[in-house]
Amino acid sequence: MNKPLRLDGKVCVVTGAGGGIGREIALHMARHGACVVVNDVGVSLDGARADTSVAQSVVDEIVAEGGRAASSADSVADAGSANRIVEAALDHFGRIDGVVNNAGILRDRYFHKMNPDDWDSVLQVHLYGTYHVSRAAAPHLKAQESGSLVHMTSTSGLIGNFGQANYSAAKLGIVALSKSIALDMRKFDVRSNSSRGALAATGQTHEPQAVGRLQAQAQGCTGQRLCGRLHRSITRLHRSRPQTGRGEKTLKGMTLRPPHHVFIPHELIRHEHMTHEFMRR
Ligand SMILES: NC(=O)c1ccc[n+]([C@@H]2O[C@H](COP(=O)([O-])OP(=O)(O)OC[C@H]3O[C@@H](n4cnc5c(N)ncnc54)[C@H](O)[C@@H]3O)[C@@H](O)[C@H]2O)c1
Repeated sequence: MNKPLRLDGKVCVVTGAGGGIGREIALHMARHGACVVVNDVGVSLDGARADTSVAQSVVDEIVAEGGRAASSADSVADAGSANRIVEAALDHFGRIDGVVNNAGILRDRYFHKMNPDDWDSVLQVHLYGTYHVSRAAAPHLKAQESGSLVHMTSTSGLIGNFGQANYSAAKLGIVALSKSIALDMRKFDVRSNSSRGALAATGQTHEPQAVGRLQAQAQGCTGQRLCGRLHRSITRLHRSRPQTGRGEKTLKGMTLRPPHHVFIPHELIRHEHMTHEFMRR
């Protein structure tokens, strides 16, 4: 039997980890030995109504299980507060080994009705947020010549989606950002990869019944809530089936996966791809 993968001694920041996928990733990493900075401003789906206690409640869960974590309620959406998120890792645990850029909001509108604020606010959290936190971590990863950045993208970005021009643009921008970071930081053994969402996983399951059930669930739902429901369903449905890695290009110190073969959230959790990603140098 394979030895369980461990993240002992690694320090990881997970943004938007007060709920949803981010919370699962944070719990997963802590259970595998990582010290986790649980970052979340605790906003509603559209970015309004902040509840800053959500990050702390995930920290409490981790600590109750015997893990190590610290909370951060700073926003990813501006450079100064993103710096404080990375500083939280350094202050509490003395280093940083990785970032999962997961924080997100939605402002779904048909394109002809989308106003500049809908556009800006989604770009600010997803694309700028991913840049800001990665950029704040980059000098530390470079100096220690190790580390990993994982960015959540989405099939909305990879293939487009109704009412999500803002989100799609941000998510495909994140893929491009990730690839270029990987090229720039390869010589320092720092990796950068994207992870697409669960909605896309339906196409990869090769289980017609599962796909049918997920499509039925999709009726009447939109956006992130839909993704959340599909994610939970897929997590339950698929207990094995690791990604094939088809099309993956492995270069020294870096793995670049084409967008349609990046790992997906339920597999991060079920198959420990995330652990794999962060346990490597
Ligand atoms: N749910 C899916 O299946 C799915 C599919 C494709 C992509 N994704 C991506 O995965 C990520 C997580 O999705 P989710 O469904 O768990 O979303 P979610 O809405 O449940 O969680 C997002 C979290 O980000 C936090 N957040 C928002 N703005 C922030 C900011 N400025 N700074 C810090 N935190 C902030 C929110 O408070 C929230 O807790 C997102 O990037 C999403 O686009 C999800």
